Amino acid sequence: MTAIKHFIARREHFAKKMQGGVAIIPTAPERLRNRDAHYPYRFDSYFYYLTGFKEPEGVLVIIAATDKAPAKHILFCREKDVEREIWDGFRYGPDAAKEKFGFDEAYAVSELDKLLPKLMTDQTAVYSAIGQDAIWDQRIIGWVNQVREHIRRGIQAPTEIKDCRFFLDEMRLIKDAEELKVMRRAADISTQAHQRAMRTTRPDMHEYEIEAELLYTFCKHGAQAPAYTSIVAGGRNACVLHYVENNAELKAGDLLLIDAGCELDGYASDITRTFPVNGKFTSVQKDIYQLVLNAQQAAIAKANPGNTWNDPHQAALQVLAQGFIDLGLCQGSVDAVLESGDYKRFYMHRTGHWLGMDVHDAGEYKQKGEWRQLQPGMTLTIEPGCYIRPAENVSEHFWNIGIRIEDDVVITQTGQELLTAAAPKEIAEIEEIMQ
Ligand code: GLY
Ligand code: MN
Ligand code: MN
Repeated sequence: MTAIKHFIARREHFAKKMQGGVAIIPTAPERLRNRDAHYPYRFDSYFYYLTGFKEPEGVLVIIAATDKAPAKHILFCREKDVEREIWDGFRYGPDAAKEKFGFDEAYAVSELDKLLPKLMTDQTAVYSAIGQDAIWDQRIIGWVNQVREHIRRGIQAPTEIKDCRFFLDEMRLIKDAEELKVMRRAADISTQAHQRAMRTTRPDMHEYEIEAELLYTFCKHGAQAPAYTSIVAGGRNACVLHYVENNAELKAGDLLLIDAGCELDGYASDITRTFPVNGKFTSVQKDIYQLVLNAQQAAIAKANPGNTWNDPHQAALQVLAQGFIDLGLCQGSVDAVLESGDYKRFYMHRTGHWLGMDVHDAGEYKQKGEWRQLQPGMTLTIEPGCYIRPAENVSEHFWNIGIRIEDDVVITQTGQELLTAAAPKEIAEIEEIMQ
C-alpha cells in the first residue's frame, strides 16, 4: 500500500494551490443493491487521492493556510460501532483514523452539520466538486447560508464556490512515482489475464467463459475489481463498441475482441487484444489486423514529451486512412478521406484517453483551445481499431470484422514506457501462444 506520507504531501500541495478558503471533498455514497446488500463499495477518486482512506461516509475538509495559521487537514468519518462492526467489519473511527492517516483533526461524520458552518466562518471561498452530486451541492449551500445568517455579528460568509477539480485534475494528470508503481502492477495483472484468455480460448466456448478467466486472474493477483465492465466480443459482436452481454458462442473462423483491465488499489488498467478463436488468422483478418497494429505503432511512436495530445491520434488516422484506401474500403487520397471523415465508417472513436484512478481519467485535453503538450508522468491509452459492419458498398469478405488493439502508456523524459507490452499483439506471437 502507498505510504501515508504521499497522501499527506498531495493534500499539502493542493492546500498551497488554494487561494484561501475551505475545501470540502466527500467520498462516494454507498449504493443499496437490495434489502440486504450493497453494491461493492468504491470510494470517490478525488477523496482517495488525497486521503488513502477507503471507508464509506468520509469527508475531507482542508482549510488553507492564512497569515495567522497553517493549513489544517480534517477528516469526518464513521464512529467506531462494535455492533455494526460485527456485521460489516472494521471501521477506524475518528481517533484511530486521525493517527493512521495523518490528519490534524478528525470527527464523527454525524458532527458535520454542526461543525461545517463553524469551519466556513470567515472563509472567503468554498472549494468543492460542484455539480458532481446534487445532494452535496445543496448541503454546502445550506452551510454557507447558515453562516450568512450570522453576518450581523461581524463574521464573514464565503462569497465564492470554486471547483476543486481545477487544481486536482491537473495534479492527477501527472502521476507520481507511487502511482506509477501501482499502475505498473495493475497493468501487469491485466496483461496476465489477456495471456490466459489467449491460452484458454477455443471454438464452441462462450464469451462468458473467457470473461471468467479474466476475472479469475484479476482476483487471483489481488486486484479488487474490473476497472470497467469487460468486453468479450466474438465475431460481429466486436463491431458493437460497448458490447457487454458476453453470452454468445465463439465460432472457429471468427475473431475475439477482449477489452478488459483490472482496478488495483484505486488505479485502472485498460487493455484490448483481438485474436482468432481457433488460433489462426485468416488472410483477410491478417490484413485488417496488421493495419490496426501499424496504426497503433505509429501512434505510440508519437507519444513523446513535446508532442501534443492529438499527435498520436493523427498518426493513427494517417495509417488507417491509407490502409482503407489500399484495401478498397475508401476511395481517393489520404487527405480527402481524412477531410471528408469517410474513414469514420470504419474507425469512429478517438485513439485514447487519460488513464489513472478512473479508466477515463481526470485532466483537460486542450488548454486555451489548443491540444495540450504531453509531459512526463502523463498516462494514457493508445487504442486504434477498425470495425466493419455489413454495408452495400463494402466487399462482403470484410463484413463483421472488428479489431482494436489497446495499450497503456506513460510519457517519460525521453519517450514513453509501455506498461502492457507483455500482452502479445504481433500476429506470430498470438498464433504461438494460442497453440
Ligand atoms: N475500456 C474502455 C476504453 O477502452 O475506453
Ligand atoms: Mn481505453
Ligand atoms: Mn479499453
